[in-house]
Amino acid sequence: MAAVTTLDRYVEADQRLISDALRLRFHPLAVERASGCRVWDVEGREYLDFSAGWAVANTGYGHPLVRQALIEQFDRASFASLISGIHEPALKLAQQLIARAPGDFEKKVWFGFSGSDANETVGRLLTAATGRRRLVSFIGAYHGATAGSMAMSAHSSQSGFIGGGHVVKAPYPHPYRCPFGEGVADCAGATLRFLEDYLFKTICPPEDVAGIIVETVQSDGGDVVPPATFLPQLADLCRRHGIYLVVDDVKAGMGRTGRLFSAQHYAVAPDAIVLGKSLGSGVPLSAIVGRREILDAGVGLAIFTTAGNPLSCAAGLATIEAIERDGLIENAARVGAHLHRQLRHLMDRHPLIGDVRGLGLMQGVELVRDRASKTPATTEAAKVVYRAYELGLLLFYVGMASNVLEITPPLVLTEAEADAGVALLDRALADVEAGRVSDEAIARYRGW
Ligand SMILES: Cc1ncc(COP(=O)(O)O)c(C=O)c1O
Repeated sequence: MAAVTTLDRYVEADQRLISDALRLRFHPLAVERASGCRVWDVEGREYLDFSAGWAVANTGYGHPLVRQALIEQFDRASFASLISGIHEPALKLAQQLIARAPGDFEKKVWFGFSGSDANETVGRLLTAATGRRRLVSFIGAYHGATAGSMAMSAHSSQSGFIGGGHVVKAPYPHPYRCPFGEGVADCAGATLRFLEDYLFKTICPPEDVAGIIVETVQSDGGDVVPPATFLPQLADLCRRHGIYLVVDDVKAGMGRTGRLFSAQHYAVAPDAIVLGKSLGSGVPLSAIVGRREILDAGVGLAIFTTAGNPLSCAAGLATIEAIERDGLIENAARVGAHLHRQLRHLMDRHPLIGDVRGLGLMQGVELVRDRASKTPATTEAAKVVYRAYELGLLLFYVGMASNVLEITPPLVLTEAEADAGVALLDRALADVEAGRVSDEAIARYRGW
């Protein structure tokens, strides 16, 4: 009988102790330590991290500025409740976010812990601010795991959730899989016409729509980059109907796409931007930055006792400083473009790859059974992710058919590290194409 390894013991304890409700596993990773773009497991195995723990570690693991800020703040005041008091880290962070967010209008900030609570809150603020009852979101969106944010989401992983009749779901312009058919020349236009000329004239009167929430790159939906015309035209549609435009930048924000806020690619100033994940470099922190009248829609409308606490805000301030001081936005744009080219080259060797798309260091590699039919290669995606883990590369898969390899590394990634990761991915793809990864290997890892 094979000896029980350290990793086996972790896996057994994990299965015994941690709720399945918190489980989205792709392989048996047990983290011991992490630094920069590297992660080491409990057996000392080193991994190059192409996931940043779901796009959280934008500044790289263990950034010295974040570490120092946390230590200093803990020594100064380990806690103060923002809902019933004032403290400097929250004021400073709000000021810095307001100064950087696009839009020449008065803004305020709300703080929370997760993308989910922030999206749920922005939905409530929008309806309170306008007196309108409805919201619009897009099919393929993942906005969170609380009741309100699930209601705004329209992701296949949450198809079991029934609720949120106040949120109308519109098709998202997916260039590789346009919901209106293969031959449609202007997929963004078709999508917006469907919303304005059909949904608004039938089940969703625009005068009852408080806001439209959108991801500029639909990440969990499959790292879908819509046509460049989409966001400006959506902003225009919102303006014509007096509807607020909210960009969910929880995953795409904080420099990941090569701009601090992803809407800046399209010269659009959303009425509110939702941030989370990387905002605190892993310390729980989310924020809504937006128009004063939205943020002031109700006194005490969304109060969480420890939200906006000094430690989280100190981490947020250090994150912004690290991103700007270390040139991480420029790095994301430059290394992201390089990575995109290298991933495209993989298409020459791997028929499994149907499409490569992305902005900056948010790239998606869509796997298909064959390029003509575009049948999603779902099992193959799970196998590639598993094999990559065995080879020392961490990444996950996303998408409505769970067939898109998502690459969202820390923004400190170098071109050499990008090349090293692509070489490992190349091997993983070859192994899966050659049938060297069994169904049993992935049977325990359901992913999503
Ligand atoms: C775009 C987007 N919004 C919101 C969320 C929810 O964030 P959290 O898991 O921190 O609640 C996610 C999480 O994947 C996301 O990708």
